[in-house]
Amino acid sequence: MAEKWAVVTGAGSGIGAVVAGAAVKNGYRVAAWDLNREGLEALAAGIGDGCETRVCDITDEAAVEAAVAALPGAPAVLVNCAGVVRFGPLLELPLEKWELALRVNLTGTFLVGRTVARRMAAAGRGSIINIASINGIAAAPHAGGYTASKAGVVRLSEQQAMEWASLGIRVNTVAPGLIDAGMSDAIYADAEVRRVREGAVPLRRLGTSDDIADTVLFLASEQASYITGQCLTVDGGLTKSTLANLPRPAAVDAVGPDAT
Ligand SMILES: NC(=O)c1ccc[n+]([C@@H]2O[C@H](COP(=O)([O-])OP(=O)(O)OC[C@H]3O[C@@H](n4cnc5c(N)ncnc54)[C@H](O)[C@@H]3O)[C@@H](O)[C@H]2O)c1
Repeated sequence: MAEKWAVVTGAGSGIGAVVAGAAVKNGYRVAAWDLNREGLEALAAGIGDGCETRVCDITDEAAVEAAVAALPGAPAVLVNCAGVVRFGPLLELPLEKWELALRVNLTGTFLVGRTVARRMAAAGRGSIINIASINGIAAAPHAGGYTASKAGVVRLSEQQAMEWASLGIRVNTVAPGLIDAGMSDAIYADAEVRRVREGAVPLRRLGTSDDIADTVLFLASEQASYITGQCLTVDGGLTKSTLANLPRPAAVDAVGPDAT
């Protein structure tokens, strides 16, 4: 396989589409997989020759095996970006909503990872980037099964990294924060919600799909050849800001028994 292939799931929309486009710009041929046929067609129209699209349900084992078998060789990179969110308070959450989040976000990430990693292992190299979320790091109310599924993605990536390091495969997670794209479009269409959320981020802006694509391409690259098993949070500082806004009296510049 002379060309460097990158498989991108969830490439028919939002962040995945931007990651696919950025990968092509960086010299990869992209296998773009999604359930969303129209989204894939729009992607192909924008990217042209650089990508091959395929309708593939990442929760369907036979479909994933067929998609991997159709690749001309072992991909250099896999980006697991397909995901769903179904909101609702846990007390009333229907089992179907819980199971959908777990099945797509966690089981789908496992299934595609396992199938692609078998090809990477045979080639003795590969880089996998699983897209989680800051919801996998800090719980958000009413996120349904999303929080547990994304926390699962973080741990799954660590386990994959440990099991597959000796095979030449690196595995890392990217945890996007408040991203102005894709599944969050409906949230940021509300001007007041947008203003409050922007204000909560230490860097005072929402993230973009490009912020995520840049991070993914770094982790895929040789510059990251010594990085595996890590979760890189791309959130403008949001998840580190717990203590950022606590007041302290201006006159107090030391505390404790020896304070002077
Ligand atoms: N947008 C955000 O604010 C944000 C924040 C943190 C994390 N993320 C994560 O980033 C990833 C991309 O999200 P997005 O905002 O671009 O959302 P999106 O809804 O625009 O894209 C997700 C894509 O996944 C596809 N998909 C869903 N189920 C699938 C399945 N079974 N098989 C194949 N494809 C399937 C959808 O068709 C869709 O094209 C997701 O994993 C999401 O959880 C997004």
